[in-house]
Amino acid sequence: MALRTTPEVGGMGHSIKRKEDPRFIRGKGTYVDDVVLPDMLYLDIVRSPFAHAKIKKIDSTKALAIPGVLAVITGRDLAKYNLHWMPTLMSDTQMVLPVEKVMYQAQEVAAVLATTRYGAADGVAAVEVEYEPLPVVVDPKKALEPGAPVLRTDKKDKKDNHIWHWEWGNRAETDRAFTEADVTVKQDIYIPRIHVASIETCGCVAHWDKVQDKLTVWMTTQAPHAIRTVFALVAGHVGLEEHKIRIISPDIGGGFGGKVPVYPGYVIAVAASVLTGKPVKWIEDRMENLQADSFARDYHITAELAAKKDGMLTALRIKTLADHGYTDAAANPSKFPAGLFHVCTGSYDLKAAHVEVDGAYTNKPPGGIAYRCSFRVTEAVHTIERMTDLMAHQLGMDPAEFRIKNFIKPEQFPYKSALGWEYDSGNYAGALRKAMDTIGYADLRREQVEKRQRGELMGIGISSFTEIVGAGPSKHFDILGLKMFDSCEIRIHPTGKAIARFGTKSQGQGHETTYAQILAEELGIPAKDIKVEEGDTDTAPYGLGTYASRSTPVAGAAAAVASRKILDKARKIAAHLLEAAPEDLVYEPGKFSVKGAPDRAKTIQDIAFAAYTNHPQGMEAGLEAVSYYDPPNLTYPFGSYICVVDIDKGTGEVKVRRFVAIDDCGNIINPMIVQGQVHGGLSMGFAPALYEEISYDEIGNVQGGSFIDYLVPTAVETPKWETGHTITPSPHHPLGAKGVGESATVGAPAAIANAVVDALWHLGVRHVDIPITPPKIWRLLRDNGVTE
Ligand code: CDP
Repeated sequence: MALRTTPEVGGMGHSIKRKEDPRFIRGKGTYVDDVVLPDMLYLDIVRSPFAHAKIKKIDSTKALAIPGVLAVITGRDLAKYNLHWMPTLMSDTQMVLPVEKVMYQAQEVAAVLATTRYGAADGVAAVEVEYEPLPVVVDPKKALEPGAPVLRTDKKDKKDNHIWHWEWGNRAETDRAFTEADVTVKQDIYIPRIHVASIETCGCVAHWDKVQDKLTVWMTTQAPHAIRTVFALVAGHVGLEEHKIRIISPDIGGGFGGKVPVYPGYVIAVAASVLTGKPVKWIEDRMENLQADSFARDYHITAELAAKKDGMLTALRIKTLADHGYTDAAANPSKFPAGLFHVCTGSYDLKAAHVEVDGAYTNKPPGGIAYRCSFRVTEAVHTIERMTDLMAHQLGMDPAEFRIKNFIKPEQFPYKSALGWEYDSGNYAGALRKAMDTIGYADLRREQVEKRQRGELMGIGISSFTEIVGAGPSKHFDILGLKMFDSCEIRIHPTGKAIARFGTKSQGQGHETTYAQILAEELGIPAKDIKVEEGDTDTAPYGLGTYASRSTPVAGAAAAVASRKILDKARKIAAHLLEAAPEDLVYEPGKFSVKGAPDRAKTIQDIAFAAYTNHPQGMEAGLEAVSYYDPPNLTYPFGSYICVVDIDKGTGEVKVRRFVAIDDCGNIINPMIVQGQVHGGLSMGFAPALYEEISYDEIGNVQGGSFIDYLVPTAVETPKWETGHTITPSPHHPLGAKGVGESATVGAPAAIANAVVDALWHLGVRHVDIPITPPKIWRLLRDNGVTE
């Protein structure tokens, strides 16, 4: 069958004709879309309405007749330079533009280059594409069945849709523990596909300057240096070598993992700029962002937990099917195709565990990115926290007491988990007890009994999670071979003011504040005298970027180590100025003084001036240092969350009445920023627990591809968060700090799901998959004989 379609069939809505309207022209700002260069061209993308189809013909005639449309770029154009495919971060391959077929709805088919943004959009609507639909594979289980259509026909030897099998732990020991168990529980858990929905969508301005022989790309990226290297690897053969590429990541409006991958739009914009010699801007719209960019989660999990009848947990066994869409584009450390999912033993002293994950190709956009999560840790935490709750209920034990009985105890740290991680420090019972006291746990349990007698549905859910952040030690962690260190370079100027540059990239986490605080604390230079910069590959030292809550554990540590290198030199200069031996000096932040003679002192500002005007002979001038910090271990922040829900029997609506979150991220650098991170994280945990999901119908049409039906909660739906903390420093981090950015997103969904099941347990309900929507609960209530 040959069809002529227009892109709005896929819901893109590009055909709306808009006149140049000053309201759409942004003022001067700091986002990518605010970058406006002379002679700039605009790129817009034709997208597929089909989830799987051959491309029979692309007719650009009508598009090229539109005033201002300069070119329609297709896969065949890119193929001339071997740029129609590119590598993914997991060493799979991904189309930039297709030559033969499309693999998911909303995939890029062609690109239109025009002199105005609206001209480009009109050009997209006028490109005519003939498709021949192919059989669509949506369900990853069916994708692995014999006889399923093989999707990756580009891979010559590929005979099925299986990507990889990965397993970890001791299978025999785990099986034995299950045979010897008194009680076991087993549960299928689906963690659906979701999308980060950050405030700004993705985009770039690519500018190939022929005179300077240099490509500058302003782009929405969380990892500018790694992207520069990827660009050079993909396009070095056409002259884009790494020293000729500058990536600038300005304010990007949130990243949350979604701005780690390289999307085709970036590559096409670069190619278009190189071909035309003009700057090219590409900014995707919200629906393109939701429908086509890398997704998160989509894990089909079967978990089993074993215990003795006294309530001691013994073993965990998990099998998972990971739906990766048409290519594995997860931004995982190379060694771990399922990310850090094997932290799934959580906060519990489990002696045996075994986990298996299989990846499958389907006709969906690629994934799976780490949505505010350190590589599949949310999936791991959700599983263990649901299973622990299930076991506690099964045994008739209070879920809080059950957890406390099974927690890894403070004296067991550093603790080697059954799946091989070395947890650095923790006091899990301390955090849970604080959460119980704050929320008034015993009173709530009494209230629940009374309400149940009256037929009211109230539930209390706990999640006592352990995170794993700060990727990571170079012996285990790399992305595309690049080791996951991070960096800080400090230059102290003669007048005592400083500039510090980092390999990370803030997306709103406040690095400018917290890094300056670290440096101020270490060096004694006021924070206002320190300029913090990130996100420009021409100036910042090489680093792997910001995601997976790694900035504080890795670059924060680099800031401390670089500061200490500066102080080593500063001590020598101070000794020279004070005519004393370096070892006879005492340091307090910002000042060296002679032991026993506190008046004989030099400030860091005196020393900085001397470093350029009066440095000791034989020593190099200047006061600078750089640290490329390779963490000895990850950090393991943790927390205990308690959630109280009331369920409306008439509508099935779940109302979060109270939510107490006690977090522990070791030593805190900035309490206000940490609280903000926890608030944001809780909201991004609440959202997938009750609202957000991207699903597909049987022919691969995306459901949830616009904000009309992808339900991002607003302040109206979001409950009031009650936050607090405990402090258990990391023993190996120079500042005793652990990461925090993602803890709440990771920990919150299980607390909400556990509260819902707790409210419905007496009715026979054992599990509800997230998002827990009113229709799901309404149906469960009706199935279990409950009516209003
Ligand atoms: O990598 P990302 O910045 O997303 O995550 P993070 O390292 O957890 O840090 C998020 C923000 O919280 C940063 O501004 C940190 O400096 C701050 N933070 C803090 O003040 N104290 C901690 N112990 C951890 C993070």
